[in-house]
Amino acid sequence: MSLHKNVKRVTTHVLLAMKLKGEKIAMLTAYDYSFARLVDQAGIDIILVGDSASNVMAGFETTLPITLDNMIYHAASVVRATNRALVVVDLPFGTYQGNSMGALASAIRIMKETGASAVKLEGGVEIVESVERILSAGIPVMGHLGLTPQAIHKFGTYVVRATGKEEAEKLKSDAIALAKTGCFGLVLEKIPASLAGEVTKAINIPTIGIGAGSEVNGQVLVLHDMLGITQEFSPRFLRRYHNLQMEIKGAVQNYIEDVRSKNFPNEKEQY
Ligand code: KIV
Repeated sequence: MSLHKNVKRVTTHVLLAMKLKGEKIAMLTAYDYSFARLVDQAGIDIILVGDSASNVMAGFETTLPITLDNMIYHAASVVRATNRALVVVDLPFGTYQGNSMGALASAIRIMKETGASAVKLEGGVEIVESVERILSAGIPVMGHLGLTPQAIHKFGTYVVRATGKEEAEKLKSDAIALAKTGCFGLVLEKIPASLAGEVTKAINIPTIGIGAGSEVNGQVLVLHDMLGITQEFSPRFLRRYHNLQMEIKGAVQNYIEDVRSKNFPNEKEQY
């Protein structure tokens, strides 16, 4: 019997059981009440309130500018809409790196002010102290390795990561360190599929890939990308399930036309 069909509420324990059973985990981002409600009702396992809100919702070029207050606003809206999915919230840039007490304070604010169930942090051994401290407060932590967008100025480019031996070895040892420290899951972004498969076998927590092939325990995409609301971003790993940009523009154009031609409102649409 499928686990995902039978759980009323997805927890970190359910996700681990799904990995052990070989059931794939489906994760998407959401940043507001209306979309989160639809995504949750459709049966998603994890909703990520990603710091990609910085790009998608606020129009910034990178994820660096978004603040903890901004993330709390988005996450609280998503939690209000969610009945089944596990809600994970990104700790934004500058709220956890190099300061484990600061990391704990940021994570506590997210848990208290949003009602979310877990936080996600980018990085490997460098952030283990922060991860440990957050876990010590009973807050579940998800890791994120590979292309970590908060480090874009260090990488200088959004190309696929860990194609060389040295970076691949570091990524593997970072994954093992995060799993040993107690992370409940790990996002692997834009790395070779074979490496993602190796990492998935080497650790006992679920891996969720984005541009990391099929040998991982689950997949995540940015909602606005997979719905075709954003059009300018077209990496190879992105499958578009709809062309909502066209549909929305078409609906808005029809409305404009109706207003201008005095076709809206009609007699039935007034008091
Ligand atoms: O912020 C985000 O949307 C993410 C996903 C791309 C994994 O971290």
